[in-house]
Amino acid sequence: MNVPQAPVFAANWKMYKGPVETRSFLTAFQGSYAPREDATVVFFPPAVSLSAFALEAKGRPDLEFGVQDVHSEVEGAHTGAISASMIPETGAGWGLAGHSERRREFGDDDALVAHKLMRLLAAGLQAVLCVGETLEEREAGQLDAVLSRQISEALHPLSVEQRRSIVYAYEPVWAIGTGRTATPEDAAGAHALVREKVGDALDPVGAEQAIILYGGSVKPGNISDLLGSPGVDGVLVGGASLEVESWAAICNSGR
Ligand code: PGA
Repeated sequence: MNVPQAPVFAANWKMYKGPVETRSFLTAFQGSYAPREDATVVFFPPAVSLSAFALEAKGRPDLEFGVQDVHSEVEGAHTGAISASMIPETGAGWGLAGHSERRREFGDDDALVAHKLMRLLAAGLQAVLCVGETLEEREAGQLDAVLSRQISEALHPLSVEQRRSIVYAYEPVWAIGTGRTATPEDAAGAHALVREKVGDALDPVGAEQAIILYGGSVKPGNISDLLGSPGVDGVLVGGASLEVESWAAICNSGR
């Protein structure tokens, strides 16, 4: 697998856009966004829309895509679940693990996130590990401890080579879908912490080379400031990735 070209613009569609809407979005998006070699654009549609994505984007290999969540087992009697090993068949090449909505709504704890991460890697997918603190944790001065725990527990079972391949997304929970964005200074500070924790689990070179995305109410109006913050190598975007105009504006930034 190739190392993604930073900046990485990642769209997390969450529980929006079935196959039909996925295809109409992509038709319009391809008219608003021409391929660029100095960035990576990746979409995380709902799993049911992955094949529709592949079909509609077949002339645009620069538009990468992946799965939002997988089960922690390879296969089995788990009604409603999908496994990482099924994903490459759809043409998708990426997978998220540890998104705060999974942690909060579905009880994905650090141990489960570690398992899911392993499954993504074993399936040959580019894994994105999402980390971030709640407002309560931030106000209680626990930012450092939370990031340290989330990263060390997720990386613990992995080989050095696997650790080196992970892309990180720092998403302060209080900024997700709230319209409240971390200031560029806050983002830079948290990204430095994430990099330090990755260094603890790897080595200084691995930490230096790690791609760390910022997520939480990213919009066309704040993308340049965020991308200009030291250590911010891209963004993971929810709400603003659902409209062609705002998502194209984000993906075209800096060109
Ligand atoms: P948001 O979501 O851009 O709507 O805040 C980001 C995310 O949850 O990845």
